[in-house]
Amino acid sequence: MAVKIIWYGHACFLVDTGDARLLMDPFITDNPLAPIKADEVEADYILVSHGHGDHLGDAVAISKRTGAMVISNYEIQTWVMAQGVEKAHPLHIGGGFDFPWGRVKLTIAHHGSALPDGSYGGNPCGFLLTIQGKKIYHACDTGLFYDMKLIGEEGIDLAILPIGDNFTMGPDDALRAVKLIQPAKVVPIHYDTFDVIKQDPHAWAERVRKETNVQVIVMKPGESIDLG
Ligand code: NI
Ligand code: MN
Repeated sequence: MAVKIIWYGHACFLVDTGDARLLMDPFITDNPLAPIKADEVEADYILVSHGHGDHLGDAVAISKRTGAMVISNYEIQTWVMAQGVEKAHPLHIGGGFDFPWGRVKLTIAHHGSALPDGSYGGNPCGFLLTIQGKKIYHACDTGLFYDMKLIGEEGIDLAILPIGDNFTMGPDDALRAVKLIQPAKVVPIHYDTFDVIKQDPHAWAERVRKETNVQVIVMKPGESIDLG
């Protein structure tokens, strides 16, 4: 069965493996571009990259309603359990774990990670997913770092990269990231949600097409792609 990936705007994706639904960085209620409501979304697992509200989002409420297991770093895992989440799996940077539907490895990300109440959220992270032999790298919130080259050496089928600037990489550095990672496909995210991260994803896509052989997919919130 093909792995299906739906974008809910900003950094939020639903990855449907056929066996499990993985909701990534579920910023839905306060996301002006979200095409769904937090009390409608279904999930078996919720992946949280860092503690900022536009990534942690509705994770606690959705986990409580659906029973979905939260996967995050140790500090956020501890915090969500203190908020009443029943199932949560802690990982940390460089470590991975084989879940029944595939593997999750945490990558570095250069960013912050305070939780909404000011609690320490540990180091922010990105995610490297291996599902049915396909590798998906969701960089989450980060600046450019040269070790993206190491992530690329794993053979990335789909890279998900922020292009918004201000809080994360902007278009120039995201283009450099594509060249370091050399994925088969790339999807730009983390733009237009707020005034300070307005970008033209189609102009960025043109630059990627001109300077690399990578297939760029500019998604609209609610659209999905099948990873063969
Ligand atoms: Ni952030
Ligand atoms: Mn963010």
